[in-house]
Amino acid sequence: AARQDLAGVKVVVSAGPTREYLDPVRFISNPSSGKMGFAVAEEARDRGAQVTLVTGPVALPDPVGMDVVRIESALELRDAVVRAAGEADLVVMTAAVADYRAASAATEKQAKVAGDVTIHLTPNPDILAELGRDKGRRVLIGFAMETHAGVERAALKAQRKNANFILLNYPTRAGTAFGGDNNEVTLVRPDGTSQAWPRLSKREVARRLLDEARPLLPVLSH
Ligand code: C5P
Repeated sequence: AARQDLAGVKVVVSAGPTREYLDPVRFISNPSSGKMGFAVAEEARDRGAQVTLVTGPVALPDPVGMDVVRIESALELRDAVVRAAGEADLVVMTAAVADYRAASAATEKQAKVAGDVTIHLTPNPDILAELGRDKGRRVLIGFAMETHAGVERAALKAQRKNANFILLNYPTRAGTAFGGDNNEVTLVRPDGTSQAWPRLSKREVARRLLDEARPLLPVLSH
């Protein structure tokens, strides 16, 4: 059994994609598999934490030994995360939240029309930034996917969202990030310092993430 070094710590993890419906049968989404977030939730559970996993639609079954909340849209994700985060010591936002949703989703299936159509999108709330504005003693960790200027952009995100650090990954490296069982991440702090980790299993990335987060938790005496 793993060392119980997170015993009594309340952890909220978000995972997977969100779905932003345009009408009852069509949505905007992304290829997030949920594997990274599930790995963080399972690693935290095995180290004794009390875990709430809030997940978008993914093919993975509910892990045992934690509260699992299934959601679809970014607005539902926000409700569930904010509710669970009230009591949390640590929030890890692994979810690939859609940046936009339909300004008004149709309640009936939209028929095909001749020619181009325009979809009016409106921005979703930034959940991590919202938690960062009222941070309290919570430790906040984000993920970011960038194709260029990764470290700089991730550091700015960590600053803007008041996150303790962000794990940067790349959508373009085979077998990592979206859908893969491995991940190649760089830990980026708000001050711009960073540390590249080798290619690791998502479970090992989760282990290191929690090793980095643990000393930041005020509830633990070390
Ligand atoms: O999309 P972005 O690169 O800004 O995501 C960085 C972090 O912010 C991720 O941890 C993601 O889960 C979180 N996020 C969020 N709400 C959004 C967009 C992103 O909490 N609307």
